[in-house]
Amino acid sequence: MAAFDLIISGGTVATAADTFKADIGIRGGRVAAIADALDGADRIIDATGKLVLPGGVEAHCHIAQESGMGIMAADDYESGSISAVFGGNTTIVPFAAQHKGQSLREVVEIYHDRAGPKSVIDYAFHLIISDPTEQVLGQELPALIKDGYTSFKVFLTYPLLKLADEDLLNVLSVARENGAITMVHAENDDIIRWLSDKLMDAGHTAPKYHAVSHARIAESEATNRAIQLARLVDTPLLIVHVSTDEAASTIRRAQDAGLRVFGETCPQYLFLTIDDIDKDGMEGAKFCCSPPPRDEADQEAMWRALANGTFQVFHSDHAPYRFDETGKLHAGPNAPFKKLANGVPGIELRMPLLFSEGVGKGRISLNDFVALTSTNAAKIYGMHPRKGTIAIGSDADIAIWDPDREVNVSYDLLHDNVGYTPYEGMQLKGWPETVISAGRVAVSDGELHVEPGSGTFLERTPGYDFIRPAGTLAPETDPATNFGAKIV
Ligand code: URP
Ligand code: ZN
Ligand code: ZN
Repeated sequence: MAAFDLIISGGTVATAADTFKADIGIRGGRVAAIADALDGADRIIDATGKLVLPGGVEAHCHIAQESGMGIMAADDYESGSISAVFGGNTTIVPFAAQHKGQSLREVVEIYHDRAGPKSVIDYAFHLIISDPTEQVLGQELPALIKDGYTSFKVFLTYPLLKLADEDLLNVLSVARENGAITMVHAENDDIIRWLSDKLMDAGHTAPKYHAVSHARIAESEATNRAIQLARLVDTPLLIVHVSTDEAASTIRRAQDAGLRVFGETCPQYLFLTIDDIDKDGMEGAKFCCSPPPRDEADQEAMWRALANGTFQVFHSDHAPYRFDETGKLHAGPNAPFKKLANGVPGIELRMPLLFSEGVGKGRISLNDFVALTSTNAAKIYGMHPRKGTIAIGSDADIAIWDPDREVNVSYDLLHDNVGYTPYEGMQLKGWPETVISAGRVAVSDGELHVEPGSGTFLERTPGYDFIRPAGTLAPETDPATNFGAKIV
């Protein structure tokens, strides 16, 4: 019997910490050896001239999920996970979304039924909490955290999902008591509604007014408020899909003061601007997401925050809606901006975009790329070191990248079910050619080799690794709360 099922030989391996030449030996779905030279395998992949990186952990994507407006995502767990793996990902963490009146247990069962028979790669669920009743807070949530659903997202906007401050405090408190992490969609709902009503009254209905109504100040105010509420409860918080310089600076100030605040941004805030939403006719609807893409100064601020450690994670916020009556235009071909489905696709291009424009253009290091797209999410969401690294005993989740391959982005290359990409025509350099998921060659030569339903559900461990930007204070109890660590 051969020593290994598979050897990846001759490549340059990069983790979040190191870059080195090595062969990787894989046995039983795990990394079994890392050495200068290995032999004795049923199959050898020659990775000479290639980069051997941990598979991506895509921890912000909406798959087979009804949105706040009740619109079903265009990707189910088959097309969503296939698109993810072609983009270099080996783990996805979509959402199990509670809508008002639903029990969380019931929601989790529904999402297991949606994912189990279909996902081609490993998956877990974040919980979306929109109805934090006594039963949810006192019983369901603590029990689910113990069962491995260790992260949840809450919204401060979207009429059917948003939580009041008191509800958010209650959710944060349960997170603290049980070692879970809370993500927040930080936009002030009243500001957005007030501006939307004024714009609509004045007859401004075109897609670009979506961006006008989701003002920067709405994001700044809600970001600061969420941080202060998490500070009061003394528990970690992750601000998702940050789009503005001001919100990033607010997060950085909190980190500088020792608060355990994490940040995430997404491709749409690096590569799109309000000019995209301002395209002719309804075309701009394709680029409507919340928060909206801003301007070039904000794009530069997002790059700085990725490079200086203010943001720990870079995810797609893949929110797939077709440009037709099933998705973006569900309220009609000329629907006003308030009725457009919110969200842009990006699960397959997230890593190639960041690799090409970030690593390739010297904005971030290769090790930062690995941290931002894989390792930090695995750490924050309780999956490390099983996921997010290449180390002995870790799952053999590996993407082999050709750093020189040039790709002209076109929707035809992609595997999602959306029908368009906001990044059409971009010239990228660097592509994940071979993707190995739990030791199985899932993608090679442009072909998929794994079956729907072959991914495994990941029960996660409560607790999180705090990843602190260099030079910021160590987290400690904040005396301003007066009760600090004694709340439990
Ligand atoms: O516009 C967006 N981001 N849609 C997806 C849902 C969310 O808020 O993340
Ligand atoms: Zn959101
Ligand atoms: Zn999202």
